[in-house]
Amino acid sequence: MAPRVLISDELSTAAVQIFKDRGLEVDYQPKLGKDKDALLAVIGQYDGLAIRSATKATEKLIAAAANLKVIGRAGIGVDNVDIPAASKKGIIVMNTPFGNSITTAEHAIALMLAVARQIPEANASTHAGKWEKSRFMGVELTGKTLGVIGAGNIGGIVCDRARGLKMKVVAYDPFLGEEKAAQMGVEKVELDALLARADFITLHVPLTDQTRNILGREAIAKLKPGVRIVNCARGGLVDEAALAEALRSGHVAGAAFDVFAVEPATESPLFGLPNVVVTPHLGASTTEAQENVALQVAEQMSDYLLTGA
Ligand code: MLT
Repeated sequence: MAPRVLISDELSTAAVQIFKDRGLEVDYQPKLGKDKDALLAVIGQYDGLAIRSATKATEKLIAAAANLKVIGRAGIGVDNVDIPAASKKGIIVMNTPFGNSITTAEHAIALMLAVARQIPEANASTHAGKWEKSRFMGVELTGKTLGVIGAGNIGGIVCDRARGLKMKVVAYDPFLGEEKAAQMGVEKVELDALLARADFITLHVPLTDQTRNILGREAIAKLKPGVRIVNCARGGLVDEAALAEALRSGHVAGAAFDVFAVEPATESPLFGLPNVVVTPHLGASTTEAQENVALQVAEQMSDYLLTGA
C-alpha cells in the first residue's frame, strides 16, 4: 500500500502534485492544523505529516500517531514540533532550511527601510487625507552601521544586501570565521561591541536557551542611543517589555518586528508605540518562498517514505 501523507497547513498545492507524482496518497486539509481534536482523531492513519507553523506537533499528537514516520516542516523553524517526543518514537523531523532564506532576508531589509523612513505611519496619515510632510523626518541607511546578530544563511544574505545599500556591516556570530567574514565584507565583532556601535540591528538566529533574550534588559541598556532594531527571526530573542521602555524613553529610536514572544500575537508591549512597525510573521510569505519550501518538503518526505533515505 502506498504511504499516506497528511498536509495539515496551508501549503502550495505544488506539494500535493509532487506527492501524487511520486506515487504517495495525499490528503490536503489545510485547516486541520488549527483543529487539535480533529487532527488527533485522524493522525493515526498517516505515515507522513507535512506542516507549516499552524500545526502543533505536540507530545500528545505524536503519541496518537501510530504509523507516523516523518514530519516535514515547510520552512526553517521546527519550534512547533516536539522533537524529543518524535525522536523517542523514531519519527524523523525534517525542515527546508534554504527555500525561504532570500525572502526572509528581503523582509528584514524592507522592515529596516520602513522603520528608517516611518513608511507605515506616513502611509496611514496620507490615506487619512493629512499631508504631514514635516512630521516624517527619516534617516539614511548609507554609511550607517548595521549590526547583524547571526550571519548564517539568512543573516549572510542580509549582510550582502546591506552592503549593496552602502552600509557598514558588523556581525556577531560565534560560528563565523574571520576569513569568511572578510570574504563577506563584514567585520566580525563581539556582541557588546555590536551593541555599542550599531545604528541598526537585525537578528537572524534561532530561539534556543543560549539566544533567548539575547537583547534583554541588560543588553538594551548597552545599545547606542538612537538605534533601530529589526527582528524577523523569532519572538523571545528580544525582551519586548524592556524594548518598549527604551522606545518610550527615546534611547531606541525605532523597532520593526515580524515575530513575537507569543504568536499569534494579539497583544505585545510594542503594539501601539509610534516608532514601531509590526507585521504578522510574514518573513517567509512570498509566492516564491512558499513554492520553494512546499516543493522541497514534498520531495524530501517522498524520498524518505519511499526509500528510507
Ligand atoms: C520559518 O521558520 O521558516 C519561518 O519563520 C517561516 C514561517 O514559519 O512561516
